[in-house]
Amino acid sequence: MSNPVLDARLEAVKHLIRAGVHADIGSDHARLPVRLIRDGHAARCVVVELNPGPLEQARRSVARTRLQNHIEVREGNGFAPLQPGEVDSASVCGMGAHTIMGILKRAADRLPPALVLQPNDSALLLRLWAREAGFHVRAERLVAGYWTYAVLRLERVGGPDPAYVGLPTAAALRYGPHLLRAGGELLRRQVEADVARLTPVAAPGRDSWTELHTARTALDWLTGEAVQAAVL
Ligand SMILES: C[S@@+](CC[C@H](N)C(=O)[O-])C[C@H]1O[C@@H](n2cnc3c(N)ncnc32)[C@H](O)[C@@H]1O
Repeated sequence: MSNPVLDARLEAVKHLIRAGVHADIGSDHARLPVRLIRDGHAARCVVVELNPGPLEQARRSVARTRLQNHIEVREGNGFAPLQPGEVDSASVCGMGAHTIMGILKRAADRLPPALVLQPNDSALLLRLWAREAGFHVRAERLVAGYWTYAVLRLERVGGPDPAYVGLPTAAALRYGPHLLRAGGELLRRQVEADVARLTPVAAPGRDSWTELHTARTALDWLTGEAVQAAVL
């Protein structure tokens, strides 16, 4: 089988993974684990799939690529088919943040020390979860696609996450501490779109009021950084 092509979203996920043994939870087509092995980002992968159609598709992809010695496909829900300590890292991608968080919360002691997450909607919930669960945000990417996708690499480390130091906390949780620090056109467009969407509906006491304040804070921060960079 020719090398499966990854879209920009899964390419970004791949670049945040380096592991001896990696698990891809909810893998569907199994393109990511195939490329992780082929491109030397992992020595072995475990694919976990809940649903029969995608499970069959993953099994077929692995057989076609003749990577059965490197990729094992398991049927099951989230981290349940894994033993504690069995994998170095895991990815959970292409699902809503609520679904991903449910999978992480049910994992308990099966959670590996590194996670690469790509929610299809806001990553805020996952950044909040990371703080509670003792994970730091080590790296982030923002990728244009059908939606604008945030990709997060989390690592289990004790203590407060230094990524947030010096940043407006609510804006950093919503838009990503590394992404906010890096600035960039894609993030600025995303924040401006949020301000435009929220301005007509925001009213005191509503969630949209707080969200608008957070978006404006992020925009001020991004604009301020741009001004500073231009002056220096
Ligand atoms: C939209 S697809 C994303 C596929 C791939 N990860 C990607 O990003 O392109 C979501 C996949 O996750 C699977 N899935 C959903 N919930 C799951 C769970 N709790 N455990 C394992 N797989 C799950 C679905 O069957 C589906 O194949």
